Amino acid sequence: MFPFSWFGSSWSYDQLPSLQGKTALVTGVSYIAPIDGKVSAQQGIGLHTALELARKGASVFITSRRPDNAALVVEYIRREVPGAEVAVVPMQLDDLQSVRDGARAWAADHRVLDILVNNAGVMGVSTYKPSANGIESQMAINYIAPFLLTRELWPCLLRAPQPRVVTLSSRGHLMARSKFWEFWNDPARYSPYLAYGDTKRAVMMFATELTRRKAAEFFANSCHPGIVDTSLFATAQYAFAGRLLRPLLSTPSDGAKTSVFLAADETTMLATDEPDPAKREQKRRAHRGQYWEPYGKLASLPGSARDPEQLRALWDATEALLAEKGFGGSWPGLTTEA
Ligand SMILES: NC(=O)c1ccc[n+]([C@@H]2O[C@H](COP(=O)([O-])OP(=O)(O)OC[C@H]3O[C@@H](n4cnc5c(N)ncnc54)[C@H](OP(=O)(O)O)[C@@H]3O)[C@@H](O)[C@H]2O)c1
Repeated sequence: MFPFSWFGSSWSYDQLPSLQGKTALVTGVSYIAPIDGKVSAQQGIGLHTALELARKGASVFITSRRPDNAALVVEYIRREVPGAEVAVVPMQLDDLQSVRDGARAWAADHRVLDILVNNAGVMGVSTYKPSANGIESQMAINYIAPFLLTRELWPCLLRAPQPRVVTLSSRGHLMARSKFWEFWNDPARYSPYLAYGDTKRAVMMFATELTRRKAAEFFANSCHPGIVDTSLFATAQYAFAGRLLRPLLSTPSDGAKTSVFLAADETTMLATDEPDPAKREQKRRAHRGQYWEPYGKLASLPGSARDPEQLRALWDATEALLAEKGFGGSWPGLTTEA
């Protein structure tokens, strides 16, 4: 099997059920504006995630820090899917106030959120850079913002019959350092790719712990999208490596498959083809709080994501950091406080 683009996968978007009546919110959608009259819309896993959800009839909201870019994305999706319901939620993920304001404005107008895809992210930021709230920027954008956004939208998610939260991790989680939350904001310990690995392990642990704390019907998962040809590499340290690898990378459309699978597949995720109710329930439970690889393949969780002590420690450190920055809050309805 080819290492980068995972040729040979059998899962396709055609396997999705209709998503009519469902509402989805996807963070971070990129679009390359027309250059010399030619439209290039090949960038961004988020864009293709939003597009495929819209294609199946979901009402899709996209968050963006760039209104001009977001307007192009909306135009592109409407052109591909005539009649698509798609709208923009302005949100700057390295600013907790912006995350909270965006989420609260959305929740004031909408009661139910079926699907949340925490897609946005940055990789390999070359030097330690604090966010608007004084948090190392990769951690702020890749993990703290999704944690806060999920918490802010939690009541809306709980109103959905089978809420799904998908957060983009990465195979880069293998670079994560032991108990990174004990030094995640220390400039002396900063390393562009190790810090990225920490953030991607953090989101994986978040999905697992959220599931552990929520006993009822709820699907939180994380995934690696593949190694995908997007603008993620452009701002990273050693960006040239991304350019060299380009011909070997997956397309953004393929890169969105695992996110969309986790957001909307029913046959596998809900085990709808399993006739025995007990086995069906067992399978459904096995598909919650997990880590997945392309395309929709269950992969094993690392030790830290299976260790209740470490899961609890990261959760507590995150809540403490948010409270310290003035963004404390609660998760109404968490039924199993671990
Ligand atoms: N590409 C890969 O090979 C790969 C591999 C493993 C994991 N992933 C993960 O997949 C996810 C999507 O990445 P991608 O490859 O599609 O890269 P991308 O095209 O660069 O998309 C990243 C998105 O995040 C948004 N974003 C970054 N910083 C932000 C901020 N401060 N506030 C608001 N939005 C912000 C970007 O917004 P703008 O459009 O405004 O820049 C962009 O839409 C990321 O979480 C990444 O870590 C990607």
